[in-house]
Order: sequence, then structure tokens, then C-alpha cells
Amino acid sequence: MAKKAKSKPARKAFRRAKPAAKKAAAKRSPVKVVTLKHKGASRGTSRKNGARSLLPPPSKKPFGRDGKALDGVRILDFTHVQSGPTCTQLLAWFGADVIKVERPGVGDITRGQLVDVKGADSLYFTMLNHNKRSITIDSKHPEGKRVLNELIKACDVLVENFAPGALDRMGLTWEHIHKLNPRMIVASVKGFGPGPYEDCKVYENVAQCAGGAASTTGFREGPPLVTGAQIGDSGTGLHLALGIVAALYQRGRTGRGQKVLAAMQDGVLNLCRVKLRDQQRLKAGPLTEYSQYGQNIPFGDTVPRAGNDSGGGQPGWILKCKGWETDPNAYIYFITQAPVWGAICDVIGEPAWKTDPEYATPKARLPKLKQIFDRIESWTMTKTKFEVMNICNEVDIPVGPILSMKEIAEEPSLRETGTVVEVDHPVRGKYLTVGNPIKLSDSISEVKRSPLLGEHTDEILAKVLGFSKTEVEKIKGSGALSAAGKEDKAA
Ligand code: COA
Repeated sequence: MAKKAKSKPARKAFRRAKPAAKKAAAKRSPVKVVTLKHKGASRGTSRKNGARSLLPPPSKKPFGRDGKALDGVRILDFTHVQSGPTCTQLLAWFGADVIKVERPGVGDITRGQLVDVKGADSLYFTMLNHNKRSITIDSKHPEGKRVLNELIKACDVLVENFAPGALDRMGLTWEHIHKLNPRMIVASVKGFGPGPYEDCKVYENVAQCAGGAASTTGFREGPPLVTGAQIGDSGTGLHLALGIVAALYQRGRTGRGQKVLAAMQDGVLNLCRVKLRDQQRLKAGPLTEYSQYGQNIPFGDTVPRAGNDSGGGQPGWILKCKGWETDPNAYIYFITQAPVWGAICDVIGEPAWKTDPEYATPKARLPKLKQIFDRIESWTMTKTKFEVMNICNEVDIPVGPILSMKEIAEEPSLRETGTVVEVDHPVRGKYLTVGNPIKLSDSISEVKRSPLLGEHTDEILAKVLGFSKTEVEKIKGSGALSAAGKEDKAA
């Protein structure tokens, strides 16, 4: 794991620093370098089969009070915009020390995009960069390159989502990185994997289109549609985070790093897996759960857009609720799950459908889905979406109210679980964000505000890299950490 700050020698971590690196660091800093060993590694525990495990004995501390899942992991975060920052934010929430490298004077471009409070970092930036530290380095400046090399030696993972070839153009090739630090994991988001499009720059909606999502989203008679969920950017960031954690786990056995690639096209396609399933099912005949089947509209040779049809075997549709004429979100998703068909018939006032052979079985209902949903809708329109939800939940009918972002922002249960969090920021004041959606019972995430541009530059140079005050001043004087004519927001 990463070399720890020399000011905190008491913290435990795996031994990693090479003698030469330690000697150099000791020269720079008067603080004694302590060789650290994993608490339980030497002890081991016997297993029934006689094999020895390197796991320490189970902690006796209360759950949530024994550090974080990724404590000791240090990330060199070279990400920008959304996909990469999503990944490193998750790792930071799990306890990794994430050092975000930003271009002097400018920073991550999203700091200044979609600005709502003049002079403050945008919500776009703040909501994707919590719990990180920021250092500004001109990666093309010779002195900047020297600092970056030191960071490579001090970190476990480098994460980047530059355009194809940009990292190489900075001189940070895999060979260079691997030579400096054979344990380093180099994780990248790219638009496409190897192939005809590998050199393309890619943003969210490009990935949604190239990954199969857009062709299968929307209504059959309308154009392809992109979804508001950022499955290309945030979805790929999630994929990358899993790849990194898996590579860290493997490194525990092999001792060496590896490259991790999450291509946005691949990530989107992975999320559209059920549609590739349907593509192959077409050979066996029409897709009977698609409502176009019941409407006698023939299928072509590719998966059609399915409107609000459910992607699984349980038919569903979005239905109007009371107030739909004025409220664009007065709707509910209603699933006619087979085991609760009887309950549905009772609720909507069609008890005879329970035994009528025209309606009693899922197979009999498939050709009549539109008519059935029209009938259910005539009932849902008499109730608010929350009334429908309450009535249906009582009898186990799966339904989902269409929640607006306003309703989500105000939902108390999401605040209680830490999924929606209010954060204070020194420049913009209080704002809402989405906290860690993945809850670990022994690694509790606290959401800390995003860093100002270059806020931790001095701290990282001194405490992580062990540069002396004089060396820090020299590096700063070289211009490698600042942009001529541009002021960093943070002192
Ligand atoms: N110091 C000096 N230069 C820096 C720097 C730093 N700290 N950080 C970045 N740069 C430079 C890069 O080296 C690059 O220079 P080069 O073109 O001379 O090699 C330049 O900034 C621009 O980087 P790039 O990644 O090309 O940004 P872009 O704004 O042109 O493109 C994307 C943005 C998102 C389209 C592109 O990065 C991309 O396709 N990324 C991969 C897919 C992805 O993640 N897309 C989703 C984004 S949410």
C-alpha cells in the first residue's frame, strides 16, 4: 500500500518503499522513516486444512470504528470531467487518499462549467470530487514531470481519463510508470476499446449511442433517445472502480500492478446486456413481452425501442395518476407480476379476470397488455401516485412512483441513509449532493467537500513527497505549479 505520510509514522501499512527511495526521502526530511509491517501478516491463523492465512484475527473494534476499506491506498488522480472523477470519488469514500492533479490556473474543466454561483466551483465539479486533495502541476514542465515521478513512486494507483494518447504524450507511458513503480496500477477510461474507434474522444451521449442504449430507448415510432442517467460516464466510472479494487486484490498476491481499462462503449453495452439477449431471441420469433407484439406490429431484424415496457419477463408500463394534467411527474410504473395477478384484479375492481381464461394466465394476457394497462390506468388516475403506492404495497404489487428531482431532494429517508447529503463549501455555501450509494457496514463514508484548486499543493509536496521547505520553494519558483498570468483559486 502507499507510503504513509512521514508525519504519521504510527499508522500501519504494508512495507513498500525501496531502501534507495527511503534514503532519498530521509535526506529531504528530518523525520525518521519507519519500516511498517501489516499487523497480522507475520502472525497468520491456522485453517482446518493446515493452510496458513495472512488475514489478521477478526477485529474486536465495533463495526464502523476500524478504519475504512481502502485505508492505506493512495491514488494519483489524473481524471477530469465526469467518468474518471466518479471512479476516484468512490475510492475516496472507501477511504483511499485521492490526490487530484490539476492543470495550474485552470484545473478540471468542470470547475468552470455550468456555473451557478459566480466565483465558486460549479456543482458539476463539487458533486464529483468530494473527499479528494488537489495539487496543481503542469505535467509538461520538466520540474512538473519530476514531481509527478515522485508521486508515481508514492502512489498505488494512477487513474486517468484523458483523450487517447494524452498520457503517453506527457511522457507517462506504461513502461515509464512501471519502471518507476512496478506495483502501480494504471487505470483508464477511454471511449472505445482497441479497434477502429480507439482514437476517438468520447462524451456521455456518444457512449450511450455507441453502446446500444440509444437504439433501444424511446418509443418505437420515435427517434432513438438518450437517458438522463449518466450510464456512459458515471456507469463507466463504476466499472473502473471495480477493476481497480480487483487489481489491488490481485496485487496483494502477485506484488505487481497492471493496466485496467474500462471503455465507455463496453460499459454501456454491459448495462444493455438484456437487449443483446433480445437480439438473439429474435431468431426464435417475436418478443412476446414487448407491447408491439400484442398490437400485431411485426418485428424487424433488430431489437426495437420498447417504450416503457419492462425489460424482464414481468410486463410493466408507466400509468397516469391523479393530477397528471398539470404535474409532469404524476405517474407510476406498474408491474403486472404474475404471482400477484389476483391482487391486481381485486384492487382495480376486475375480480372476474382472476379466473377468466382470457386473462387468468400470463400467456393469455400477453396479446392484451395495452388493453389491460389502459384498464389499470383508469384506476390509477383516480389516486395520487403515493396513494397507488400505498395500496399496492399492502398487497405486494410492485409499483414505482415517478419521483421528480425536487421530491428526491426533499425525501427524508434518503437524507437519513446518507444517500442525499448536505455539504458546506467555503465559497458556495451549502449544497446538496449524492453521497456514497454503496453502504459498507464496517467502512462508513463521510462526505467531505471538494478541494479548491491547488488547495493541498504544499501539503502534498511536504508531507507525501517529503520535500523540504527550500525544495518546495524551488519547485514553485520554477513555474511548474502555477500558470503564468493566471491565479489559482486557493492560496
Ligand atoms: N498539465 C499540462 N497539460 C495537461 C494537464 C496538466 N496538469 N492535464 C491535462 N493536460 C493536457 C493533456 O496533456 C492534453 O494535451 P495534449 O492534447 O497535448 O496531449 C490536453 O490537456 C487535453 O486533454 P484531453 O483529455 O484531450 O481533453 P479534451 O478536453 O480535449 O477532451 C475528453 C476531453 C473527455 C473528450 C477526452 O479527455 C476523452 O475522450 N477522454 C476519454 C473518455 C472520457 O473519459 N470521456 C468522458 C468524459 S466525462
